[in-house]
Amino acid sequence: MRTAALVPAAGRGERLGPGTPKALRPLGGVPMLVHAVRVLAQARLVDLVVVAAPPEDVAGVRRILADHDAGAEVRVVAGGATRQESVRRALADLPDDIEAVLVHDAARPLVPVEVVDAVAAAVRDGAAAVVPALPVTDTVKRVDDAGAVVETLDRVALRAAQTPQGFRRAVLEAAHAGGDPLADVTDDAGLVERTGVTVRVVPGAAEAFKVTRPLDLVLAEAVLARRRAEGVR
Ligand code: CTP
Ligand code: MG
Repeated sequence: MRTAALVPAAGRGERLGPGTPKALRPLGGVPMLVHAVRVLAQARLVDLVVVAAPPEDVAGVRRILADHDAGAEVRVVAGGATRQESVRRALADLPDDIEAVLVHDAARPLVPVEVVDAVAAAVRDGAAAVVPALPVTDTVKRVDDAGAVVETLDRVALRAAQTPQGFRRAVLEAAHAGGDPLADVTDDAGLVERTGVTVRVVPGAAEAFKVTRPLDLVLAEAVLARRRAEGVR
């Protein structure tokens, strides 16, 4: 089963603050996107990586990825105005022989390769849709528009979803074909769930956290520094 990894990387990174698009901001001196592509390329079952780049920066992203050889075939397409549109454009670029697809946020540059391998293996072994996820550590409350608490959710039943999320290609394509590309859907499994397909959960990893706010960048630099000190990369 040939597997491709799609990397939505076209976001601005508004919550991180002003600057270059988030995926191109350096982490340990190397753009975040390069870390993400390298780990996907390292995974046992990934044959091809397709990056959805900021539309105004496709040539620049191609150059960056050529300068930092990841060791796998990497394609770059122009991303869209929403994450969903970026994934859709990367999906449209897949060769016919790809049967399994992983979708991985460029903003999760430090995901351990073991998580990528586990998700890809679950799809290879027959799962239609797979997400890595972790138990939630905060107590989560649902609130109304006025800021009053409506309810406290039972934490035991909650999971925080990460990426890469893995799918049989036809399942992901059907989900994207049915979704409104401008809707604010924050992950692909969310679209797949609406089609009635069961999404399986495998263990995620703390280091697969998403770089969203400035503090996440501090944490990411610290994790990378520790890995380098330990000679991991
Ligand atoms: N993404 C994308 N195309 C978009 C928006 C987001 O490819 N139009 C990607 C981002 O590059 C990121 C992933 O989707 O790798 C997860 O999105 P998020 O963390 O929200 O990143 P940004 O949208 O860049 O950040 P923000 O929402 O703070 O602007
Ligand atoms: Mg966003």
